[in-house]
Amino acid sequence: MASKETTLIIVKPDGVQRGLIGNIISKFENRGLTLVGLKLEVVTKKLAENHYGEHKGKPFYNGLIKYITSGPVVLMAVQGENAVMACRKICGATNPIDAELGTIRGDYALTVSFNIVHSSDSVKSGKAEVKRFFATKELSKYNKIDSSWV
Ligand code: RTP
Ligand code: MG
Repeated sequence: MASKETTLIIVKPDGVQRGLIGNIISKFENRGLTLVGLKLEVVTKKLAENHYGEHKGKPFYNGLIKYITSGPVVLMAVQGENAVMACRKICGATNPIDAELGTIRGDYALTVSFNIVHSSDSVKSGKAEVKRFFATKELSKYNKIDSSWV
């Protein structure tokens, strides 16, 4: 059954540096999802370690923290019916070489070390991650004019 969910999308530093912010936002807007939070900032080491805590100890962990803190990122809270799974599919497989064409990673990335976007992996993670990166006052509640058509 469909349900309205909120999920966290991050345009990682490579996506920002490569000028892909607009194209990436369009993918979510075009799908009919609603942006309820949006900002550009450099993620602190502490926040990055918190966010990627599940990967601590893995061979790629130190590189991942360095990567995600290496420059500004775009943080997005995205809302809609089944938003978590819809956004994961829009992003594509973690390793871009396995990602389908038409997905963000499949269209714009080549290696897992620079895979352009983050997308929450469950409804529970979506809620926790939006809370981690956005204060309540930074989130907007509104109905988009096309909401009855999506
Ligand atoms: P994300 O959390 O960034 O949305 O990515 P994901 O769920 O698709 O993949 P996850 O397993 O959570 O991995 C987190 C991020 O770590 C980097 N990574 N590098 N073998 C490697 O070198 C490797 N594996 C993962 C990627 O940036 C991945 O998105
Ligand atoms: Mg993940």
